Amino acid sequence: MFWKDKVVFLTGASSGIGEGLALALAKKGATLGLLARRKEMLGELAEKCEAAGGKSRVFACDVVDAEAVQDAADALRSEFGKIDILIANAGIGGNNEETQNLKPEAVKKVIDINLIGAVNSVSAVLPQMLERGSGQLVAISSLAGFRGLPKSAAYCASKAGMTAFFESVRLDVQNKGVAVTIIQPGFIKTPLTSGRENKMPFLMELENSIPHFLRAIERKKKFAAFPWQLATIVRAGKFFPARLYDRIAGGAKYRE
Ligand SMILES: NC(=O)c1ccc[n+]([C@@H]2O[C@H](COP(=O)([O-])OP(=O)(O)OC[C@H]3O[C@@H](n4cnc5c(N)ncnc54)[C@H](OP(=O)(O)O)[C@@H]3O)[C@@H](O)[C@H]2O)c1
Repeated sequence: MFWKDKVVFLTGASSGIGEGLALALAKKGATLGLLARRKEMLGELAEKCEAAGGKSRVFACDVVDAEAVQDAADALRSEFGKIDILIANAGIGGNNEETQNLKPEAVKKVIDINLIGAVNSVSAVLPQMLERGSGQLVAISSLAGFRGLPKSAAYCASKAGMTAFFESVRLDVQNKGVAVTIIQPGFIKTPLTSGRENKMPFLMELENSIPHFLRAIERKKKFAAFPWQLATIVRAGKFFPARLYDRIAGGAKYRE
């Protein structure tokens, strides 16, 4: 019953986790605003969502374009009267040579999409949620936001920033009716991880990951990290002294 008639603004809906979430939410009767850059894929997804029983609208735009994200949120709100839940999911891995070589433009692109894109999305929905005294902001962050990882400076920085941003917002909106849920997944099989040949510990199938996202949102959890095995390792790593952490994490090879 949680999702029935909820209006959900979902960024990064055209593939992977976003697509999986959209279909699951449509089946549960949610109304969806689907945002991503690839219009055709969104169109096909919208048809599947309608067939599954959920209403949906498509917004083909870039999350880095604050005005376009605002326009999309305004259009969704004016048609359905409210936005109950934002799922800030749009993101890229930046798994390329330029990013790994710390070329400023390449690093900026990852941070712009993953962090500033989420900021734009929050900014487009939060004032009206506060006015109504209800709503939920959901960040699809990552276990990669806990500590630095090799060959992942841009991605880790973007996800650490995202986690800190949403946690800070939570402090500002507590007791105002708006919940903030920060989800920190490990490795999930999606187009984002598909190019990698190296080992990804505890890699999850997309369909097995979707219930974890849904549960975290339905329970309005402040933080949800999974799979538990990797989440436990990463949490423990937080307490390692730098010398030990550098020795262990420096040997990880999942981005080569
Ligand atoms: N897969 C994992 O192992 C994993 C683990 C932890 C966290 N995550 C996070 O989960 C989120 C979804 O990733 P995924 O694995 O599902 O990857 P994915 O299949 O590549 O999906 C990424 C989504 O983000 C959208 N997107 C990318 N850049 C955008 C932009 N500038 N403006 C609007 N939309 C944009 C893409 O759509 P368009 O290209 O059509 O714009 C696509 O819909 C990301 O934030 C990622 O960091 C993934």
